[in-house]
Amino acid sequence: MARVLITGGAGFIGSHAADTLLSAGYEVRLLDNLTTQVHGTSRKPPVYLNPEAELSIGDVTDPLALDRALRGVDKVLHLASAVGVGQSMYDMVSYVHTNEVGTATLLEALAKRPVARLVVASSMSIYGEGLCQDGSKALVDPSERSSQQLRNRRWELQDENGGPLTPLPTPETKQPTLSSVYALNKYAQERLCLMVGKAYGIPTAALRFFNVYGQRQALSNPYTGVLAIFAARLRNGRSPMVFEDGLQRRDFVHVLDVANACRLALESEHNGEVFNIGSGQSRSILSVASDLARVMDRRDLKPLITGKYRVGDIRHCFADIEKSHRLLKFSPRIEFTCGLEELADYLADQIADDHVERATEELASRGLVA
Ligand SMILES: NC(=O)c1ccc[n+]([C@@H]2O[C@H](COP(=O)([O-])OP(=O)(O)OC[C@H]3O[C@@H](n4cnc5c(N)ncnc54)[C@H](O)[C@@H]3O)[C@@H](O)[C@H]2O)c1
Repeated sequence: MARVLITGGAGFIGSHAADTLLSAGYEVRLLDNLTTQVHGTSRKPPVYLNPEAELSIGDVTDPLALDRALRGVDKVLHLASAVGVGQSMYDMVSYVHTNEVGTATLLEALAKRPVARLVVASSMSIYGEGLCQDGSKALVDPSERSSQQLRNRRWELQDENGGPLTPLPTPETKQPTLSSVYALNKYAQERLCLMVGKAYGIPTAALRFFNVYGQRQALSNPYTGVLAIFAARLRNGRSPMVFEDGLQRRDFVHVLDVANACRLALESEHNGEVFNIGSGQSRSILSVASDLARVMDRRDLKPLITGKYRVGDIRHCFADIEKSHRLLKFSPRIEFTCGLEELADYLADQIADDHVERATEELASRGLVA
């Protein structure tokens, strides 16, 4: 069976992808630098790592580490990234270095040592606002909300005449609108891999993940996924903090479905394609905060609606998964309530340091939260 290298393989999605691939009979090697923000200052390999996976501790920006990690590898799943949208707006050098220089370093190594397939993690953040329709049902690619609109706390998207817009599932054909350094990084990673893959004859696919949730997401990292952030607050007896009015909509997809999508993309023969990986359903952030409090038995901790906004945040985006269903045979299986209940069981004995207020202050001190 083929050997797969997963960069960032000790992280949340990478560790689940490793389990899925090992169960399917692959050999798996992980390259990970055990970043402190994700793995803590001890930088010990996480206990959840599958012992059958070979861990190579090293940095994706280090050509020697890559050279070692790529020996005998048939396919690559490139997940290593710095992942915080807000943090990327001030820690720019580090984000561009890890995400863009890291991807370019991997590609230079692959140009010397080509593999049979490359799959790269992209993100829904590249879309900016999701697709919408106006009152006459015409499709609209909404522009970013103006600072004035946000200062006036008018959160909803509007058409040019001030009419309301209704969000629709966003297909891969929507033009990217890059509103954070992280979004720019993810788009650069996706384009670099598709372009260099084509030039060197390495069949490549990019997966645009939506909001992934589930066990093992770093709870003490205040820049990670919104559900992990809410969970860390609730575990510490604090209300989840919700930006704007909480009615912004996102697409939550379970990490086991995402791990399966990674396997399907590694096994597919479709070359040069991008695929949305989401649940295809939308939920408001406010409802998700309440649902999580309920399954964690903390109904008393009502979501705190801050009425503040983060620069570069979008209002609504959820996935149209028709293409990934048609070409990859991807079908998300884990229903949201079941996924949340499983997450709550896992959280019951996790320690979560809550750094959310500190992270919000950090953003506010730079004018990135208002
Ligand atoms: N989790 C989500 O909701 C989501 C959504 C969209 C896209 N993605 C993408 O999926 C991928 C995996 O994300 P995740 O949620 O598992 O994040 P994660 O932070 O849990 O995992 C990332 C892993 O990469 C490692 N890493 C970071 N910098 C590295 C470097 N320079 N060299 C080697 N390893 C390095 C970290 O130590 C970590 O183990 C990322 O590319 C991310 O951008 C995630």
